[in-house]
Amino acid sequence: MRYDSITEAIGNTPLVRLDPAVHGLRHIDLYAKLEMLNPFGSVKDRPAWNMARPLLEAAAGRGETVVELSSGNTAKALALLAGMHGLRFKSVTNRMRVPEIKELLLLLGAEIEELPGQSECLDPTDTDDPLTRFHQALAEPGSAYLHTDQYFNPRNTEAHAAGTGPEIVKDLDGRAPDWFIACVGTAGSSTGVARVLREHDPEVRVLGLVAHKSDFIPGIRTIDEVHQVGLFDPATYDTIESVTSEEAIDGMLTLIRRCGLLSGPTGGAAYQGAIRHLRVADAELTDPERRRTAVFIVCDRAESYLSYVRQRRPGLLGQPRRGHSAAALTGAEVEAQAKVIGVDGARRWLADGAPPPLVVDLRGPHAYAALHIEGSVNIVDELFEELVRGGLPFSKRRPVLLACPVGEKSARYAALLTRMGHPDVRSLAGGIVAWRDAGAPLVRE
Ligand SMILES: Cc1ncc(COP(=O)(O)O)c(C=O)c1O
Repeated sequence: MRYDSITEAIGNTPLVRLDPAVHGLRHIDLYAKLEMLNPFGSVKDRPAWNMARPLLEAAAGRGETVVELSSGNTAKALALLAGMHGLRFKSVTNRMRVPEIKELLLLLGAEIEELPGQSECLDPTDTDDPLTRFHQALAEPGSAYLHTDQYFNPRNTEAHAAGTGPEIVKDLDGRAPDWFIACVGTAGSSTGVARVLREHDPEVRVLGLVAHKSDFIPGIRTIDEVHQVGLFDPATYDTIESVTSEEAIDGMLTLIRRCGLLSGPTGGAAYQGAIRHLRVADAELTDPERRRTAVFIVCDRAESYLSYVRQRRPGLLGQPRRGHSAAALTGAEVEAQAKVIGVDGARRWLADGAPPPLVVDLRGPHAYAALHIEGSVNIVDELFEELVRGGLPFSKRRPVLLACPVGEKSARYAALLTRMGHPDVRSLAGGIVAWRDAGAPLVRE
């Protein structure tokens, strides 16, 4: 294969049938669409190129910088595309949570700006959010940026409607699969592929997968965040289900160790979510003559997620389980053990508690500096995770109120500290966002 540009190698990714002895489905052939084999490494190569391509030449003439709100694969692809066209690339995000990806982006020449966003994902209705304000400024005339705008740009979806979807149909001999399963980040891939598949067969069932509440799977949204995504349309999906980080890692292990596919966590989540869903349907299928098909996307590769795996399953990387870990708690454990308090209750507790609780704000330092509950201390969640590994960092006599952006991470730590024997740790329900929305006082550094 000979190319004049690496961009010509984007797309035409393999569709690989998985061994039924591994997944155990009796009547359904399960295929993996290997978007991880795109040249820049992920499902985002197609939209990044499709969004940037028409604008790059003019941007180069004006010396603009390519910019995107991405902490992962879109940023990777855009950094490479910008470099090829002599442009600079800037990634603006809430906070880079996967250190390998941050380092890789720096290696690719990206500038990284971490703004104190309220959540992992841009909420366009939240005009106080610095990420939203930055996003709005990019649309103003005279901006020195080429902004690809992945959360709102229809060219994101179209890249998959023009490429990923038709390739699946072609590789299935002109037919749509019975099921299509995809993890939802910007919703570009699931929306674009679903549209094409339904044109071939309106009966195709589309399963969208998101991360379980209070959990983190890099690249995709939680069920609460997904509604903030501009391209997300609930009508695209017949079903939306959530997947935990444990399931994502389990799925990754099966794909890697049994199927020869070097998948990252969202490929694992898609596999595990697909199997969980299809097992039910498979049990009801009786006609041995009529085989069904299902396709899921493997979005990227495993190598960038070693620290993610190490934090959750150190044993897999030959390390002993290192003390207490909030990341290792299951969603069910968090729900069962976290004590949660609403804004009104928390305000009364702070005013009347004897002693009042120590407020620990788990957000990043920028967000804390911008606005926080008076008297709170700031320990960013990664540091807090390290701190609690060795034991309880507070006296059991002092109650503790934990706060984070939306109350998900704080619930995790509240569950962990309760499990470690602290008698009164509570998580602020809805986090600092709920506190602010209720008009409760916040101070600036
Ligand atoms: C690793 C990974 N998986 C899944 C997705 C979801 O893809 P989409 O943005 O098309 O919904 C992304 C998007 O960035 C991703 O980086």
